[in-house]
Amino acid sequence: MQREIGMTEPQRVTIFDTTLRDGEQSPGASMDLDGKLAMAYALRGLGVDILEAGFPIASNGDFEAVREVARRVEGPVIAGLARCNSLDIERAWDALKDAPRARLHVFLATSAIHREYKLAMAKEEIVRRSVESVSMARELCEDVEFSPEDAARTEPDFLAEVVEKAIEAGASTVNIPDTVGYAMPSEFAELIGYLKKHVRNIDQAVISVHCHDDLGLAVANSLAAVAAGARQIECTINGIGERAGNASLEEVVMAMKTRRDFHGIETGIDTTRIYPTSQLLCQVTGLVVQRNKAIVGQNAFAHEAGIHQHGVIKHRLTYEIMKPEDIGLGNNALVLGKHSGRHALRKRVEELGYELSEERLGTLFVEFKALADTKKEVFDEDLEALMSGAEADSVDIWELVAMHLSSGSESASTATICLRDRTGRTVKEAACGDGPVEAIFRAMGRASGAELSLTDYQVRGLTGGLDGRGEVSVEIEELGNRHRGRATGGDIMRASADAFLKVINRVLAAREEQKELVDVFGQ
Ligand code: KIV
Ligand code: ZN
Repeated sequence: MQREIGMTEPQRVTIFDTTLRDGEQSPGASMDLDGKLAMAYALRGLGVDILEAGFPIASNGDFEAVREVARRVEGPVIAGLARCNSLDIERAWDALKDAPRARLHVFLATSAIHREYKLAMAKEEIVRRSVESVSMARELCEDVEFSPEDAARTEPDFLAEVVEKAIEAGASTVNIPDTVGYAMPSEFAELIGYLKKHVRNIDQAVISVHCHDDLGLAVANSLAAVAAGARQIECTINGIGERAGNASLEEVVMAMKTRRDFHGIETGIDTTRIYPTSQLLCQVTGLVVQRNKAIVGQNAFAHEAGIHQHGVIKHRLTYEIMKPEDIGLGNNALVLGKHSGRHALRKRVEELGYELSEERLGTLFVEFKALADTKKEVFDEDLEALMSGAEADSVDIWELVAMHLSSGSESASTATICLRDRTGRTVKEAACGDGPVEAIFRAMGRASGAELSLTDYQVRGLTGGLDGRGEVSVEIEELGNRHRGRATGGDIMRASADAFLKVINRVLAAREEQKELVDVFGQ
């Protein structure tokens, strides 16, 4: 890996976050609209330069999410993805057009294997389609990015040709993806060097990189590319993304910050927002971060071995190359207590990256006071847990009136559940299960009439101590659609019931909507 000769002043690398697009493509990471908006506000607070909000042609949900992010989240450039065809590009532009600053991101595979087996297109056809699509995108949007998918496995001379023609057609960013995570760092850096040398008009575009982590090299490859002249990194929070994921934002950013002496690179990221944003993503998706994950894992700043603890007490730099506060981990001390007012609550929650309406602040304040009464110390994590639980859930077909549980080591568990529907009718049901959670789910399914099968159930501790809070996340699949419900609380059984009821309400609302459509439009 070589550094650019004569690089004295720090240079700026732009951070293109694709958590809401490539990240959301990872199994188990689906997000609903509220979740995507909460993440988009947090990413703005983090200071990402470009925020890829989705792939609008992929589904109506994706389209709506991109449109809402484009309309509401001011600050970063909002990008939307499209394949190289007019339908995709028009749909993406439709979703993006209200953004103060928008970017159309078009892509087409260029490697031999994709040309032959996926696209059945010759090289000339690939060049023609890329040029036509970039030109079409440029007629709609000033800012166009072009990605030759699977670039890392493309013949370098052909890649150079496509990239040059795409820039000629108006692309101001050319993104070089290692789509399948195949490249080695020195090889990838060489490829960037090759493009710098052989693409005649390369100085008219920013070189971006987009690395996948199949061999665990996404971050290393991104940094090697930067050393070779790339000036945009595409990455995701917690490294989520297709298969093994994408380059993790927190790792590339902290590597460049911690080793500024080596890279000579700056980003616009407020690193103190890294940890809260990572936590928010866990809450929104239900995907937890492994304990030993670099930067944001639970163990990343924990010193277990006596000799390390001794060293850190004497001088923290003996074993710590970054400060927890740098990623926003150390400043999670007590922030609010039961005497804090609405103003303080709003200020702190906004600092955590959330945007609050007066109405939402009102409900949150009531919940905060209730929590502060039972829990002496209220931390950032508690507020984030409340925020995720405080999501407006407009669909409320059933509400929980009462729940009784009986469970022991010698016998099956039983749950008795009482639900009330919108007309005020109450229904009581009891069920057994191998454990209390199963018993609750069965009883609720019976009482609500929604026969559902669970595809995922996760519990995670959010705050420490016996009075800490936990989060339950459940997912079910019906007719090919995944529905996720999340709830938090000090009582995990109650949170399980709340999370399951949210899913039941969502599924029943979706069924009602479907029935209305059939009634109006027929099959
Ligand atoms: O991995 C990839 O090649 C992509 C492109 C669409 C940029 O995600
Ligand atoms: Zn990708």
